[in-house]
Amino acid sequence: MWDRSRKKEHGVLECITCGRTYPLDQIRYTCDCGGLLAVKREQPRVDRNVFDARRASRNTIDQSGVWRFREAVLDVDNVITHPEGNTRLYERNGLFFKHEGENPTGSFKDRGMTVAVTQAVRLGAKAIACASTGNTSASLAAYAAQAGLKAIVFVPSGKISGGKLAQTLAYGATVLQVRGDFDAAMRLVREACDRLGIYLVNSINPFRIEGQKTIVWELLQDLEWNAPDWIVVPAGNLGNTSAFGKALAEAHAYGWIDRVPRLAAIQAQGANPFFRSFSESFATRHRIEAETIASAIRIGDPVSYDKAVGAIRFTNGVVAEVTDEELMAAKREIDRMGIGCEPASATTLAGVKKLGLGGKIVCVLTGHVLKDTDAVMKNVHSDQIIEIDPTIDAVRDALT
Ligand code: F0G
Repeated sequence: MWDRSRKKEHGVLECITCGRTYPLDQIRYTCDCGGLLAVKREQPRVDRNVFDARRASRNTIDQSGVWRFREAVLDVDNVITHPEGNTRLYERNGLFFKHEGENPTGSFKDRGMTVAVTQAVRLGAKAIACASTGNTSASLAAYAAQAGLKAIVFVPSGKISGGKLAQTLAYGATVLQVRGDFDAAMRLVREACDRLGIYLVNSINPFRIEGQKTIVWELLQDLEWNAPDWIVVPAGNLGNTSAFGKALAEAHAYGWIDRVPRLAAIQAQGANPFFRSFSESFATRHRIEAETIASAIRIGDPVSYDKAVGAIRFTNGVVAEVTDEELMAAKREIDRMGIGCEPASATTLAGVKKLGLGGKIVCVLTGHVLKDTDAVMKNVHSDQIIEIDPTIDAVRDALT
């Protein structure tokens, strides 16, 4: 779609544990040592002015909030883009909210998915799969439909919101409802992809992380490259926390920002393995059985743990936990600002309060308010919705 004379992407997949490298176009998600793989490349030969200029371009590739940064994401000829990104940065009550729920399928997942699906097509994949609490599956299904790939998603049976399930089905995916929790679905999809030759696009796939870095780059760009003090993000499977750390490390190394904001990763108390590890200075990796109203982050054994530890350490970050009551109260506040988000996203505001953070703070809202309407209805006040007869008297009565 852009300059076809450009050379193929160079770079390697590097193990974050032992440093071993593999070719970028090899289908693998972990090192032989079991460590996670990350894309490593040389400093891109563009600076941030180029990204700023592209915001005014009419070219689809430049308009994507992911591919605008292509030299530092995946620099290839043909991309599967909706386009995505270009989400709003709202300023309300002294805080900034980067609303990733404004992506094409209503969550931040589209930023990683456009890159992972582009890579899937480059590698000749015919089918792609993920385990999901609902947002990754919806995103996968939409991008697979666009690319003409078979979409297979593994969801914990009965544990994802009706809207997310419907959305995933609408885009045409095959849904395997696993009798078990997200972590069981995650283990199963990894085995299924290995054995059945399906391309895995969960965030253990390094190309997902490359796309999700652009959440941070775009918000820095929104702030005219003046780094905030804090970036606050919900933490579940820890893909985003990992991506944010990598984005900040690269932005700093490339000279796009002159100081590194601190990351605050927020978990729900009933799904808090990362918080438990943080509280022990990461001495132990915890695996738990997760339970929270925020179904998107009901995850007990996050796959990107090791990368996320690196992200927190690099940014001098913190990890906090909030109760379901705290996150639902924060959701109500965000909803009543006229912005709205799903429960998992509201951990950010709840976390800001819990940690007593100050300075310039950006909360990343990861999913749209309509992603979980059951949760909305739980927050509705009983006098807000009134059934009436079709008469003017009934209207008068209801409003007095
Ligand atoms: N917020 C929302 C709305 C999510 O859907 C997720 C993850 C997260 C936060 C946590 O992000 O996993 O990168 O730490 N949802 C995944 C899914 C698990 O399947 O949709 P993370």
